[in-house]
Amino acid sequence: MSREQKQQAISSIKGTRDILPEEARLWQMVEESARKIFELYGFRELRAPIIEPTELFEKGTGASSDIVTKEMYTFTDKGGRSVTLRPEYTPSVVRAIIEHRLDLQPQPLRFYYIGPMFRYDRPQKGRYRQFHQLDVEVFGEKDPAVDAEIIEMAHRLLQAVGVEGVTILVNSVGCPTCRPAYGQALREAAARVKDRLCPDCQRKVEINPLRIFDCKLENCQAAARTFPLINDFLCEDCREHFRQFLIYLDLYHLSYKIEPTLVRGLDYYTKTTFELVVENFGAQNAIGGGGRYDNMVKEFGGPDLCGTGLAIGLERLLLVSKIEAIPQSYAYFAHRGEQAKQASLLAASYFRSCGIPCLLEFKERSLKSHFSRANKIAATWVVIIGEDELAAGEFQLKDMLRSKQYKGSLEQLARIIIDKESSRKSALSKE
Ligand code: HAM
Repeated sequence: MSREQKQQAISSIKGTRDILPEEARLWQMVEESARKIFELYGFRELRAPIIEPTELFEKGTGASSDIVTKEMYTFTDKGGRSVTLRPEYTPSVVRAIIEHRLDLQPQPLRFYYIGPMFRYDRPQKGRYRQFHQLDVEVFGEKDPAVDAEIIEMAHRLLQAVGVEGVTILVNSVGCPTCRPAYGQALREAAARVKDRLCPDCQRKVEINPLRIFDCKLENCQAAARTFPLINDFLCEDCREHFRQFLIYLDLYHLSYKIEPTLVRGLDYYTKTTFELVVENFGAQNAIGGGGRYDNMVKEFGGPDLCGTGLAIGLERLLLVSKIEAIPQSYAYFAHRGEQAKQASLLAASYFRSCGIPCLLEFKERSLKSHFSRANKIAATWVVIIGEDELAAGEFQLKDMLRSKQYKGSLEQLARIIIDKESSRKSALSKE
């Protein structure tokens, strides 16, 4: 590409990425594992729009959160409405429940979703402006056993996609009964060290001092270490919920660390919060996080329906996953002459109806050139269709991986490919 052409070329927007076919195959594998596991736990997919009314996140995610104050992709549409590309999924599910009266269905409700989210943050390794989440939400289940079950499910998924070295951080952030007293104690403590805080955190002292714990700046973190901790302020109900939650985590033999400053960056949490972090992974080490939010549905004008859930970042999951793509296997047709080309078209159509992926090339070539082409595109099978084969109704099949040859009708060759491929796949999955 010349310099001039390069200058004219349009690139993707900063913080967004193309997922090219080889990587997309890994995404498909992780998504497939996630769907299977979510469905094992009774979750059903709920697909909400990518674009939502801005107030949904202002009210749900929270007016004092960094997401709402700094990171939303918000614009006015042609109808003069303020709309936002969703920065997270939880408020959308709550909206959908109320809009479609899903609360009338047998509870608990269990929904999952896999898709893109948007946050205008500084891009770096593991942090993008368009990223993807695997999200699960449960509604109408107060029992702390469900908080633990969600974590056990996440743990199962991480194992399935080869993620190791994950630490589960847990905490309780209380509820509207006990949090005001804690908020007051926090505000007083923060006011005492206000001049040591960054301008952003100074603002948070009055609005929501809990958010100071989210700040990544060393000065603010050092100041936050002197703050009172929520554990000492929990009401009896929250204390008991947390105690039971830990009992269930122990039951699953999940090891965890209680992290009393884990308040998470979203305003809606009540009681349980948790995060899945990978050691030695730099600043963006949280591959998933979630917690309980017992008041969001009610605050949106819906019924009194408690909620709890989790989201895992797909990009971060893939960065630490040891999953390896099994390359796609293709049959290639080496045809000579127009009649053979037409026979190849029909043969490929038949193979595909048997579930065999095929690659066709239409250019007339010598047999040698067909084979070098098949090698180049890594075709695993080559079917030779020439005039002699057409006349005899018998075709040659070459297994490119094992350098073996077979002869037979198209039905016989399709059977050979299906048998060999299924034993190859089971050998690869055992590796
Ligand atoms: P969150 O902690 O904001 O929670 O995001 C969940 C996960 O999404 C993070 O742990 C991270 O893996 C990924 N993530 C977040 N921002 C980015 C980014 N800019 N680039 C790449 N990955 C990112 C929530 O979103 C809550 N809605 C989770 C939840 C569900 N709570 C209850 N239910």
